[in-house]
Amino acid sequence: MQETEAIKAEFAAVLGAGGKLHVIRAPGRVNLIGEHTDYNEGFVCPMAIEPEVKVVCRAREDGTVRLASTAFPGQVAEFSVEKKIERGEPSWANYVRGVAAELAAAGIPLTGMDALIENTLPVGGGLSSSAAIEVGTGLAMLTLAGVEMDRDRLALICQKAEHEYAGVPVGIMDQMIVATGKKGCATQYDCRSGARQFVKLNPDDLRVVIVNSMVRHELTGGEYAKRRKQCEEGVAYFQKQSPGAGIRALRDVTMKMIHEAEGKLDDLILRRCRHVVSENARTVDAAAALTQDKYERAGQLMRESHASLRDDYEVSCEELDFLSEQAMTVKGVYGARMTGGGFGGCIVALTQPRSVESLEKHLEKTYQAKFGKKPMAFATTATAGASVIE
Ligand code: GLA
Repeated sequence: MQETEAIKAEFAAVLGAGGKLHVIRAPGRVNLIGEHTDYNEGFVCPMAIEPEVKVVCRAREDGTVRLASTAFPGQVAEFSVEKKIERGEPSWANYVRGVAAELAAAGIPLTGMDALIENTLPVGGGLSSSAAIEVGTGLAMLTLAGVEMDRDRLALICQKAEHEYAGVPVGIMDQMIVATGKKGCATQYDCRSGARQFVKLNPDDLRVVIVNSMVRHELTGGEYAKRRKQCEEGVAYFQKQSPGAGIRALRDVTMKMIHEAEGKLDDLILRRCRHVVSENARTVDAAAALTQDKYERAGQLMRESHASLRDDYEVSCEELDFLSEQAMTVKGVYGARMTGGGFGGCIVALTQPRSVESLEKHLEKTYQAKFGKKPMAFATTATAGASVIE
């Protein structure tokens, strides 16, 4: 394959020629709906997308891991799987250090490795380039160790790596969909039980368009962790109110309980909880609507999701609000919303196939006029989760 020839040549140039090479791909993801619900044991509905990470790797005998990335030319990160793996510089390699450490802790007999990471996902673009790097390099290490691992388990290991080595208390959505996505489908995933339902997206009827605001989102900034804490405060309140109700997470809270808490629970905490509780319902509804080809309904739920993330959860920003609103002025667009953690990154729009071009053009024109920068818009199909391609 021509595609892998170029990256293998680059691998040889940076890390030396020879040996048996493996190539792994791990896609990015976009979430259609179900935002900030995963760590509340709720529902999400993401899909794996075409932009992806590729990892070329080769085993080493000496336990050393040498890592290079096409995004950071000239840097080679190094650590050893025979010693305790610590965080360090360059920091982009911490995702991989984390995955290696967690795989080792899970009892996987890791070997040394030379690896080159190529990334066609925008870093900080909210399309989960970090989860793709984690799952991609995790699969590389497993391949070299000759170990088969259940994909859901790999996703959990990568999530733990992100907690411990990148310091962000993320939910399971990104690693789960990168590791287990199904071609042609979004996945409605129950983050409590792990149950999944595939939502087929008919390409004759529907296109998924992603628009990057080019505002870099930083989850390490602390806002994400703050939201998690606020949700926990909410859970504690509802547990006190209804001690017998078996409330373990916001998943167990109903809209009725939210209304009853109005004026009693601190307003900010109430709004955070209202977002999560309403978003769970919207996600289940939207997945059902998509399955039944009710695109107008799914689109409406996406718009409501955006408003809730903007007003109640307060994780949107001016640029994402603008793009979502403008998208809705284009004929044939069913719905649009911010996607991912927020504070920048991308919006996702569902549209009729024939409207893709006018949508992209309209957003490029109006966004540039207002913010003086060009957004990056592209349509994508739903792809399969990570795989070993060679
Ligand atoms: C980030 C996290 C996910 C999820 C989303 C918000 O992408 O990695 O676990 O919480 O934010 O839905």
